[in-house]
Amino acid sequence: MSYKMHLLVCGGTGCHASDSDVLLEKLKEEIKDNGLEAEVQALVTGCFGFCEKGPIVKVYPDNVFYVEVTPDDAKEIVQEHLIKGRRVERLLYVEPTLQEKMAVHHDMPFYKKQLRVALRNCGFIDPEDINEYFANDGYLALGTVLSKMKPEEVINEVKISGLRGRGGGGFPTGLKWDFATKYDADIKYVVCNADEGDPGAFMDRSILEGDPHSVLEAMAIAGYAIGARIGYIYIRAEYPLAIERLRIAIDQAKEMGMLGENIFGSGFDFDIELKLGAGAFVCGEETALIRSIEGKRGEPTTKPPFPAESGVWGKPTIVNNVETLANIPVIINRGGDWFKKIGTEKSSGTKVFALAGKINNVGLVEVPMGITLREIIYEIGGGIKNGKEYKAVQTGGPSGGCISAQFLDTPIDYDSLIQIGSMMGSGGMIVLDEDDCMVNIAKFYLEFTVEESCGKCTPCRVGNRRLLEILTKITEGRGTMEDLDLLEELGTTIKDTSLCGLGQTAPNPVLSTLKYFRDEYEAHVKEKRCPAGVCQSLLSYEIVPDKCVGCTACARVCPVSCISGKPKEVHFIDQNACIRCGACYDACKFDAIIKK
Ligand SMILES: Cc1cc2nc3c(=O)[nH]c(=O)nc-3n(C[C@H](O)[C@H](O)[C@H](O)COP(=O)(O)O)c2cc1C
Ligand code: SF4
Ligand code: SF4
Ligand code: FES
Repeated sequence: MSYKMHLLVCGGTGCHASDSDVLLEKLKEEIKDNGLEAEVQALVTGCFGFCEKGPIVKVYPDNVFYVEVTPDDAKEIVQEHLIKGRRVERLLYVEPTLQEKMAVHHDMPFYKKQLRVALRNCGFIDPEDINEYFANDGYLALGTVLSKMKPEEVINEVKISGLRGRGGGGFPTGLKWDFATKYDADIKYVVCNADEGDPGAFMDRSILEGDPHSVLEAMAIAGYAIGARIGYIYIRAEYPLAIERLRIAIDQAKEMGMLGENIFGSGFDFDIELKLGAGAFVCGEETALIRSIEGKRGEPTTKPPFPAESGVWGKPTIVNNVETLANIPVIINRGGDWFKKIGTEKSSGTKVFALAGKINNVGLVEVPMGITLREIIYEIGGGIKNGKEYKAVQTGGPSGGCISAQFLDTPIDYDSLIQIGSMMGSGGMIVLDEDDCMVNIAKFYLEFTVEESCGKCTPCRVGNRRLLEILTKITEGRGTMEDLDLLEELGTTIKDTSLCGLGQTAPNPVLSTLKYFRDEYEAHVKEKRCPAGVCQSLLSYEIVPDKCVGCTACARVCPVSCISGKPKEVHFIDQNACIRCGACYDACKFDAIIKK
């Protein structure tokens, strides 16, 4: 049936958690009650990227974008927009810097500079309906590959595209596939790495929830290219919606002959199985992931041999990230040359970033490589929240580093990020402002890696713990200048001697903050002061007598009753008894309590 209008309702995890499924049902009811079923279709889609403003409803083809929509708004959308042709003004997005309402999706600064290749179908098609994928060139690339291309031609096209692995390492995908063809074996495997362990990253989850067939199609293409008939998707069990959508997609693809035996009558067989991971960060590392697929403890092994030679059950295996794979069908359909033209010379294409932290527009953004951090943070991201000052952006998750203001105009790609002491990683991008303490941030990431270390090698297991102890000492005001040198020396040694990427990159947040924010470390050590006012042991709370009206709010919330004063008289904090929990600071409505 062809409809005049579609209401695209986001069904990504964020919006789903805010009842977008109930909203969808309400919209369907309203459409039915108003006799519009023949003209308007309401359907679920994947994530639009602008999760902070969810649940999102987009009216297509008008492109009007409604934000923070609740099930109670369904009636008004149908009555006003669909029947009377008037936009529901109160549901439009208000641009924070201009304070202007914006109706059309393409006008919104959040979307203007984005280029959606890997996320092309997210927020656009119903991920649970293979026909919608077909209608948007779905499985066309697989058909082309199986009917017109030799395996080496497929690999060559991927090489031409310059696509590099989006899972963090940035290894050229075509080259990886080529390696796997060099080894003869009765069986080979294609593995999709959907472990996505970086805190804050959710691009892979969104692709799987919003466009699962693109990954299945890419895996089949990869299978044909390297001579594999079996694919595994290793996905963390904490992603139930992505798992459900993948299961539906695999069943539908099999039913339609896109997976299974003799695909497109070509004689090529390819099947995909899901393997659920238990959520250990180290299991995202490819050799640990392979062991986990085999049912063993998820611990990395030494390389070489690389998986392309000896992977799952000792057979040649390629491991590729979800976002890497999502690019493959487009590369085949539009050509490697087309893809190569996007981005920079050595990092072609786009990259999806999960933009979070102290930024106005939080969400998933896909941008051409080579865009500057300034464009992402100030144009797409709408700038720093509450008009605060930018301090740094943390990229690459626990393996990455913190980038200071001096690098805001650096065009970002794999190599430039490494040069400035960070890395692309899987695409986490956490914006920090003047209220963030860089020593504390380094400590936060190190706590994560210490917790997630598998313990197999000593530099990572013991070394990172020692780094964390030193950082803790500094944040508690017990650090010495020698400790700063030790952090540097030990961090470098851990990087050089750890077995896998987890240990080899874990000191990055410490080393990059030490390099670019050394003054903050020195303030903690020499002056026993946390300039951002975060490290609790170095803080004191004081009442400014001129501002205190004696409302007693602080005394009432103090858990150790260390605030004294009569009602309507100036209050006083006993510094010896104060445990620095900050409850009084939050409770005072007169800004009479200051942090020092
Ligand atoms: C500790 C650690 C965790 C990793 N986690 C992931 C992950 O969650 N997803 C991913 O695709 N790659 C992850 N990687 C990178 C993989 O080892 C591997 O390089 C990647 O899956 C290859 O795919 P690509 O070439 O398409 O990027 C991780 C690496 C390390 C060292
Ligand atoms: S809450 Fe603020 S104004 Fe009220 S007594 Fe405490 S310091 Fe004074
Ligand atoms: S910081 Fe906590 S312990 Fe100290 S005075 Fe305020 S509420 Fe009490
Ligand atoms: S989950 Fe709805 S916009 Fe991301």
